[in-house]
Amino acid sequence: MAAATLALLLVTLAALHGAAPVLAVAGDPPFSCGPSSAEASEGLAFCDVTLAPAQRAADLVSRLTAAEKIAQLGDQAPGVPRLGVPGYKWWNEALHGLATSGKGLHFDAAVRAATSFPQVLLTAAAFDDDLWLRIGQAIGREARALFNVGQAEGLTIWSPNVNIFRDPRWGRGQETPGEDPAVASRYAVAFVRGIQGNSSSSLLQTSACCKHATAYDLEDWNGVARYSFVARVTEQDLEDTFNPPFRSCVVEAKASCVMCAYTAINGVPACANSDLLTGTVRGDWGLDGYVASDCDAVAIMRDAQRYAPTPEDAVAVSLKAGLDIDCGSYVQQHAAAAIQQGKLTEQDIDKALTNLYAVRMRLGHFDGDPRKNMYGVLGAADICTPEHRNLALEAAQDGIVLLKNDGGILPLDRSTVTSAAVIGPNANDGMALIANYFGPPCESTTPLKGLQSYVNDVRFLAGCNSAACDVAATDQAVALAGSEDYVFLFMGLSQKQESEGKDRTSLLLPGMQQSLITAVADASKRPVILVLLSGGPVDITFAQSNPKIGAILWAGYPGQAGGLAIAKVLFGDHNPSGRLPVTWYPEEFTKVPMTDMRMRADPTSGYPGRSYRFYQGNTVYKFGYGLSYSTFSRRLVHGTSVPALSSTLLTGLRETMTPQDGDRSYHVDAIGTEGCEQLKFPAMVEVQNHGPMDGKHSVLMFLRWPNTKQGRPASQLIGFRSQHLKAGETAKLRFDISPCKHFSRVRADGRKVIDIGSHFLMVDNHEMEIRFEP
Ligand SMILES: *[C@@H]1O[C@H](CO)[C@@H](O)[C@H](O)[C@H]1NC(C)=O
Repeated sequence: MAAATLALLLVTLAALHGAAPVLAVAGDPPFSCGPSSAEASEGLAFCDVTLAPAQRAADLVSRLTAAEKIAQLGDQAPGVPRLGVPGYKWWNEALHGLATSGKGLHFDAAVRAATSFPQVLLTAAAFDDDLWLRIGQAIGREARALFNVGQAEGLTIWSPNVNIFRDPRWGRGQETPGEDPAVASRYAVAFVRGIQGNSSSSLLQTSACCKHATAYDLEDWNGVARYSFVARVTEQDLEDTFNPPFRSCVVEAKASCVMCAYTAINGVPACANSDLLTGTVRGDWGLDGYVASDCDAVAIMRDAQRYAPTPEDAVAVSLKAGLDIDCGSYVQQHAAAAIQQGKLTEQDIDKALTNLYAVRMRLGHFDGDPRKNMYGVLGAADICTPEHRNLALEAAQDGIVLLKNDGGILPLDRSTVTSAAVIGPNANDGMALIANYFGPPCESTTPLKGLQSYVNDVRFLAGCNSAACDVAATDQAVALAGSEDYVFLFMGLSQKQESEGKDRTSLLLPGMQQSLITAVADASKRPVILVLLSGGPVDITFAQSNPKIGAILWAGYPGQAGGLAIAKVLFGDHNPSGRLPVTWYPEEFTKVPMTDMRMRADPTSGYPGRSYRFYQGNTVYKFGYGLSYSTFSRRLVHGTSVPALSSTLLTGLRETMTPQDGDRSYHVDAIGTEGCEQLKFPAMVEVQNHGPMDGKHSVLMFLRWPNTKQGRPASQLIGFRSQHLKAGETAKLRFDISPCKHFSRVRADGRKVIDIGSHFLMVDNHEMEIRFEP
């Protein structure tokens, strides 16, 4: 105790004196079954590394008393000292870097900070799954390193958030990879593979958790709160919009956890939904891992949703549906009574605990000292490394989207920018870099700092009291703008407008931002440069058409190196290549009830639909929009070898008539796994950088159907590839096309079919027709 107190005191003193945090007060990580432990010497099966994790878990569970078992069912699980099992914290967060929003990660000793990557929506804008993989790997290494030095009481991480960004007002849309199910699926796969580590080893670097299954995308709108919202979701939308990222997460990436949402889907809370948790996630998708509840989701089944009449009913229905652990203490409190009342059995609890302990086994927590395993060498020196810091910078640079660049005002030549006015509430606010679910970043380069590294004479004025901008210093801002060579405005949103628990009611810039921007633009010598820091989209129609606003950038919430990334883009040390991962809707969209979950438009009632796949109204910017300093061209090239899709394979299949619409189609299930393999073919896209700058470019390939009847999307992204090209360089990019995956559509009844007849591969305006013939 005394040693710990002294260490804490030293750390505090170091902090007070601003000294570098070099104190080596690393602790020991918690573990079981060390060579000198009684459990190992007695040869207890749960310590036997040669047995399968589930077998070891079952052995451990069989040794627990009923009371000990019940105590393990909350995110803060006490130790079982008589078996050498330390306490465990299941709840840890690492959305875009290690975060302190959970319970188990601490930055208070040898390690004081971790790498803060951009908020996910900006990272998604890079359309680059290699980048997403490397970010996952870096976060996984930092988590394991933090554990090894004794500053993590758990390695189960409740990230990523792969819900579809369905409505632009959603406060947590910023945490997601955007509105498209294919992008969200590939993000999920890359991030989970990265963070969970070497997939050929049975040892998990960390355990990832895909959340929140499913159809969760509303915080609090017009008096409807996420805790009691009953989402009406069609089978079609579930199958082709809300569920695909979760399926990919479990099936392809082998995520070891899925979190169920608060959402009551068609009346049944997700965490009480046996069809979803046991039928789909564990059954159809084959989850090898555990199911966690969103925090207090079990309690709200009784308190807010009135789904379960008593606490014991809520506990019983969840555990029986397939939940394994409650985030909260509700199950710990009420499980004993549920058993007494005959609503729950000890076998139900054993099932949950076996799933839970099997993951802890796979994390190596029962193999003796974890510093001896394949991740054991990771330590304090593996956190905030130069590589990770550079990756945070790279991710921000690659995500930034150039929305407007009139007359090529950007990039700027630093030798001509002798003085600059930097105006805006987001110019010098470290919190705007790290958004939500953050920990202490290794460094914090705000946009103001970033610009100061390029321009000597910089004058800064926040201009607004905060991003809310209910008070603006317009006169001062106008005076400053008129006196400097160049004017940079850093505007947008903050967590006060969009966050967990808070949706927006307007898509316009908050408060007096718009009038401030316009006044500053009027007063400045040259067209101004507007940089938006925000998660969700904003309606900036006024700025699109204002000739005094020369350039607009969307920079998301760009992470610890965000300010430098922005400056590099502005001054041409990086050629922007980000593309919007969400549709930017106009303010008129806010007439649509946020509670209307339907993706498909309903012209009879004037409902416009959602996302580029279905939305029929006006946009401010379209999904996939983004400019470059170079001109790129893309085309589908001949030589794309389309196999005989009228092959004997399909001829042999009985085509299925769809009674409601008369369309002729094949069921994907009927084609079968092997048939689907045989149908695959490559499509080639030639992409050229016509200059003048080197740069990355992301090619997006879509599929278009001949019509949009029966809920067919207008188009659907089926692939994307990001490629760096020197000025003048050409490359051929290969897209592997799987008709079962990419040409299929989901019918109203939730079944996947491939239509007989024409389909069109699309890259820009280039199309290639592919026909399926019986
Ligand atoms: C991954 O794990 C396998 C099996 O344990 C091991 O042979 C291999 O060397 C590991 N790869 C890396 C890159 O650590």
